[in-house]
Amino acid sequence: MTDRLEHHRRRLAACGQDHLLRFWSRLDQRQQAALLDDLDQVDLDRCLPLIDTLVRVRPAPVLPRHIEPAEILPAEADAARAPVYARAREVGARAVAEGRVAAFTVAGGQGTRLGFDGPKGAFPISVVRDAPLFQLFAEFLLGVERRYGRRPRWYIMTSPSNHAETLAFFERHGYFGLAAEDVMMFSQAQMPAFLPDGRIALAEPHRVALSPDGHGGSLWALAAGGALRDMRERGIEQISYFQVDNPLVRPIDPLFIGLHIGTGSEMSSKAVVKADDTERVGNFAVADGRLCVIEYSDLPDELARARTPAGQRLFDAGSIAVHLLSRAFVERLTQPGSGVALPWHRADKKTQVVDEDGRIVTPATPNVVKLEMFVFDAIPLAHNPLVLYTRRDEEFSPVKNADGVDSPATTRRDLNRRAARWLEQCNVCVPRDPAGEPAARIEISPRFALDPDDLRTRLSGEPLTIRPGDSLLLA
Ligand code: UTP
Repeated sequence: MTDRLEHHRRRLAACGQDHLLRFWSRLDQRQQAALLDDLDQVDLDRCLPLIDTLVRVRPAPVLPRHIEPAEILPAEADAARAPVYARAREVGARAVAEGRVAAFTVAGGQGTRLGFDGPKGAFPISVVRDAPLFQLFAEFLLGVERRYGRRPRWYIMTSPSNHAETLAFFERHGYFGLAAEDVMMFSQAQMPAFLPDGRIALAEPHRVALSPDGHGGSLWALAAGGALRDMRERGIEQISYFQVDNPLVRPIDPLFIGLHIGTGSEMSSKAVVKADDTERVGNFAVADGRLCVIEYSDLPDELARARTPAGQRLFDAGSIAVHLLSRAFVERLTQPGSGVALPWHRADKKTQVVDEDGRIVTPATPNVVKLEMFVFDAIPLAHNPLVLYTRRDEEFSPVKNADGVDSPATTRRDLNRRAARWLEQCNVCVPRDPAGEPAARIEISPRFALDPDDLRTRLSGEPLTIRPGDSLLLA
């Protein structure tokens, strides 16, 4: 302990951060150990250069000189494109069947807005069973196995503050029908929160205020957590990335995979048509010649509202945080000495800190600066990146807030609407209320059917009667 303490004392004093040890003599042994563990996680080489550039000053956003709309592949192929999409589906299905594609969920976020006590993936969301988000993804992978003959491997990124709970949740539920060996969990790195004067904040006298380093940190976590090595050993070449909060996502999508492989893209993305000009989603654009995502807050208002001569929104493609990354691309970015880094983004947040006397202060207004990397900042670094439109009502309805937009209520509504639509596409009569909403609660486990075509074969003409008020589960 003394050696570790001395090591930290020296390195913190050298950069003016030794206030982190100012309550040391008041701490009991357990607290001292906890503080040293936290200090081990503070990567000063990574943090210090950011204090002068991002913490003490608030840099004005640097806008690219030329921002143009990106070319986006359509969700549905027209006659000319139909053979290309059909071939892509085959290429994707083969890659899945040969075990060359893995699912990757980023689940290291803090889920502050939802305010759920536990990892977000444990949040009960499905319409009839109240199955948690993680269960729906597990069942999707089991559905893929049924359909394509191979169970994709699943990588899950947690953070130090939810790792143990996430693991325990999977163990308690028997991995939702998967085997423990099918799933690899690893934790992402953390960054300290800074006070506006550049000092690292303490959350308690013996705890550094640490938080996960953003979903962009997932690329380095794949490397540091051993996942890339594991993928190499298993012949996994493509990583299908998605967020833990969107139960409508298709964790494995042969069309998307086939287009990505077929065009030699290193990083591909899915987009939806924006709901309105200023929807709070990232915008796909070409900035100074490179495909990228521009955050809604950084897209100039006149561009957000711009129209084509035909009256269509010019920047119409919103990011839904669904990507495919080739393993080789992530290896290239993260190999030691690559010199590649994603930019850090500053967020002013409210967080509990301790004052000079060691008292805990809970602020009413933002009091710290947090720094995060965003995964979409890797897109401009990729060769041949592509973007594919998809239908929002089929694939995107995230659980972000406790109520209002993007809340459990809207996500359940969208799951129910999709299930009703799929059944109707299979000629099953679904009762609807006067507003046109399904008048029954319907849940189709992805293990049962992955899409309407799959559902049609699974139902194989069996008569299904749904009455108003019914709860129907196809699992
Ligand atoms: P959000 O941006 O919605 O953040 O994350 P959040 O932390 O989950 O929620 P709030 O903002 O505190 O309410 C989008 C996705 O990225 C993951 C989240 O788990 C979610 O799947 N994420 C985010 C990480 O894995 N690590 C991070 O550091 C941040």
